[in-house]
Amino acid sequence: MSSSLDAYLQSQAGSDPLRADVAETVRQLCLAAIKVRNTILSGGTGDTLAASREATNAGGDIQKELDVLADRVFEEAAKASPVVWYGSEEQEEPVAANPTGTLAIAIDPLDGSSNIDTNVSIGTIFSLFPVGEEGRANPHAAFLQPGTSQLAAGFFIYGPQLLLVLSVGNGTHVFIFSPAFGGFVEMRASVDIDPRAKEFAINASNYRHWEPQMRSYIDDCLAGVEGPRERDFNMRWIGSLVADCYRILVRGGVFLYPGDARKGYAKGRLRLLYEANPIAFCVEHAGGAATDGVTRILEIVPDGLHARTPLVFGGKREVERVARYMADPASLSERSPLFGKRSLFRA
Ligand code: F6P
Ligand code: MN
Repeated sequence: MSSSLDAYLQSQAGSDPLRADVAETVRQLCLAAIKVRNTILSGGTGDTLAASREATNAGGDIQKELDVLADRVFEEAAKASPVVWYGSEEQEEPVAANPTGTLAIAIDPLDGSSNIDTNVSIGTIFSLFPVGEEGRANPHAAFLQPGTSQLAAGFFIYGPQLLLVLSVGNGTHVFIFSPAFGGFVEMRASVDIDPRAKEFAINASNYRHWEPQMRSYIDDCLAGVEGPRERDFNMRWIGSLVADCYRILVRGGVFLYPGDARKGYAKGRLRLLYEANPIAFCVEHAGGAATDGVTRILEIVPDGLHARTPLVFGGKREVERVARYMADPASLSERSPLFGKRSLFRA
């Protein structure tokens, strides 16, 4: 019998009170995720939950009914947890949760909203970090910590299975909700991402808006065995960050959401605090890497709760290769002659 999430959390907390608060918060988040999952399963989806509201969220995205419902459910969970501040994609300002708590939570309550009405996996992404004295008095200060301060991070996937991918800073583990057991049990212990990528994930419809370095990287993947990479790549883009990340944890690959020339997209689409940081934490603890193209995500100091960042994550060697393309435009001029020479050799 697989071990339960509860047993795992207990063993990780030991007698450390802050870690015990993390464990308690994760338990509450799980109860909230089961509620969201039940709402989705009950068929309240489709027209109702995917219906657009008049409102947009803090990032300017159109809110769906399920975005708002999930936000309410997770805010309640934060209030029932040792969490001082709840910072959500769906709300402009951090919300006061439990004044006696020790933690802050940054959360994307419903990731992948554009997939709600198509019955494709969606999820919830969260990041937990400690709140010091200054952060207790001022929520803005509480949220301006780099991702290295995270005590735990993870995401739920509402897909064919209800999964929790979790890292409390000691490997990345996958738990599955078992209705028979009535809780989450371990499905994969210590995920280990293949350092070499065979698959890339990017929204290629933005090709013409990318910087030349990003286009060169993708051009080289597309060129396959005929190109400088000398091997073929496959492509997948689900459009739900949680699902794309889970695939990469399971079978490797690289994910890219770069900045581009569209209005408002200079730093891409994804949010540092409640998307990039928790994903980077889980990916690094699974042996992978995550950058904004060049700089390690976890070392970026945020300038606001809703700050955006370009995001590249996945197999370590592939993420390092992307950084070489992005940081060293000179490698671009080297690339064509080298490619040319190889072709000559082959001819
Ligand atoms: O939360 C933002 C998000 O829905 C992610 O889940 C996903 O990776 C991305 O946006 C998809 O963006 P686009 O629609 O531009 O491909
Ligand atoms: Mn999201």
